[in-house]
Amino acid sequence: MNKKWWMESVGYQIYPKSFYDTNDDGIGDLPGILEKLDYLKMLGVDLIWICPFYDSPMDDNGYDVRDFFGVSKEFGTMEDIKNIIQKAHEYGMRIVLDYVLNHTSDEHPWFIESKSSKDNPYRDYYIWSEGKMVDGVLHEPTNWGSFFGGSAWNYDKTTDSYYLKIFSNKMPDLNWKNPKVREEMIEVAKKWLDLGVDGFRIDAVSHLDKAPFVDAEAKPGEKYPLDYFKFSNQPMVHPYLKELNQKVFSSYDAVTIGEVGGSASIEEGIRYSAFDSHELSMVFSFDHNWCNNIFEINHPKFLKTDVVKLKQAFNMWQTSLKDIGWVPLNWFNHDQPRLISHYGSKKYPLQSGKMLATVLHLMRGTPFIYQGEEIGMTNYPFEDVSDFNDISSISSYQHHLNLAPDDPVSALRIAGMRSRDNARTPMQWTSGFFAGFSTVKPWLKVNPNYRKINVERLLKDQDSLFYHYQKLIALRKSSQYKDVILWGDFILKDREDQDHFTYLRNYQDNTLLVINSFSQSKTYYDLSKYQILDTLIHNQKKIKIKDQKILLKPYESIVFAVKEKS
Ligand code: GLC
Ligand code: CA
Repeated sequence: MNKKWWMESVGYQIYPKSFYDTNDDGIGDLPGILEKLDYLKMLGVDLIWICPFYDSPMDDNGYDVRDFFGVSKEFGTMEDIKNIIQKAHEYGMRIVLDYVLNHTSDEHPWFIESKSSKDNPYRDYYIWSEGKMVDGVLHEPTNWGSFFGGSAWNYDKTTDSYYLKIFSNKMPDLNWKNPKVREEMIEVAKKWLDLGVDGFRIDAVSHLDKAPFVDAEAKPGEKYPLDYFKFSNQPMVHPYLKELNQKVFSSYDAVTIGEVGGSASIEEGIRYSAFDSHELSMVFSFDHNWCNNIFEINHPKFLKTDVVKLKQAFNMWQTSLKDIGWVPLNWFNHDQPRLISHYGSKKYPLQSGKMLATVLHLMRGTPFIYQGEEIGMTNYPFEDVSDFNDISSISSYQHHLNLAPDDPVSALRIAGMRSRDNARTPMQWTSGFFAGFSTVKPWLKVNPNYRKINVERLLKDQDSLFYHYQKLIALRKSSQYKDVILWGDFILKDREDQDHFTYLRNYQDNTLLVINSFSQSKTYYDLSKYQILDTLIHNQKKIKIKDQKILLKPYESIVFAVKEKS
């Protein structure tokens, strides 16, 4: 295997709007990131992914880009991003930006041209189609639903046609079939790489090619079914990515992490990211994201982590890409709930938080921490639909309310548990006003638990979650176990065990045994096959071994260096 710099990195994802506000307007900004680089350095991460800060009308908090080469006024200036790159590089950190290539804002000059007339030179930059006449009524070209609810098409009266938009109305999809679009987007990537960035997280990358415009199958009464396979992993996406790789990424030694979401099977994942595909360095999949029956509110195990399913999800990516590719390791991002609220425990937040961190950071791949995860931030206790800011949370609330109009409480509960706003509440820095995020009321409410959960407090406590993350990173970066953590094979143990997530890592003469309990009760794990040589990291004070069994407290997690007995 050809070793690459990014295989040895530890990533940290920043959502700029919610990270740190330096100019008292309640909105996080680029100077805020610059100021907190010392904090990140102390944590030990060295690959910073910054979510979009480009000029944008902010329909989707910046994923609706109006100018790929400009910085939004609310986030700062071009100088600010240059300063971040420079200081990060001085610190030995790399910077990765979000590369949003599937769509633009409807306020992007290309779209303004495109919609102005059918013969405008920019017309084919986007995907236009005539409506369908059914019984004298004009309909969308297909019944496809969009990710954010409603139709995937929007009508534009100037030319009496529809444009495709798989996210919001204000985010028209670019037409990647058009070579001019590909050239333009290649220029975007080059421009940022020339400025010194080290790579990209590539937004919504699996959607670049679309299926022929044929209706999706609908359930009775369903007007716009969301069949995202109509615009995911369609065949041409691969040649497009090979072209990008060949014309841009490969000449810069840039890292590229594609967001392929839940639509990509492992076979697709291999197509995107195997070393010999020459497309992307790695892909973020979502297979491990929803292993707790969260979509079935009446399920007897609603919100209970399905440990077997979770292990299967990780194991599949770990083993299928062994030797032929590399994976990013992340729990969640800015589109998902908070880790502790989702897979952790309310009763044992510290132990479960440390355990979950260990599960992830001891696997093979490049770990990514989402801002606030290292201090155990939790979901927001939404009380009213007006607490939502995120466009998709609002439409999800309305969707559930339509299904059961007399049950607004459940609609709020369901939309709330999955809301992207959970991950976007301001970062909790101190126990002072607005959690030290800003001196004025922030754009989104601060989680009321900030007095307990904040950076300042955790830094004073040697036993805190923060230091557990710091230790995990140090083990990977500079300990005697570095090689086995980085390069060792991953072997899942006890697949059917619902209480424990246990695996081995093997490299040359080194073997690590990683034991994690997801149980709320005491359990034990049999160690008779192992001779224990060392303990790398543990989330309890004492190790209790009796009759060759380790007795585990709720959410206990421990990593041993072992020798397997023959
Ligand atoms: C990705 C982003 C998400 C955004 C969407 C459209 O899924 O992570 O935040 O809304 O793409 O750009
Ligand atoms: Ca600000």
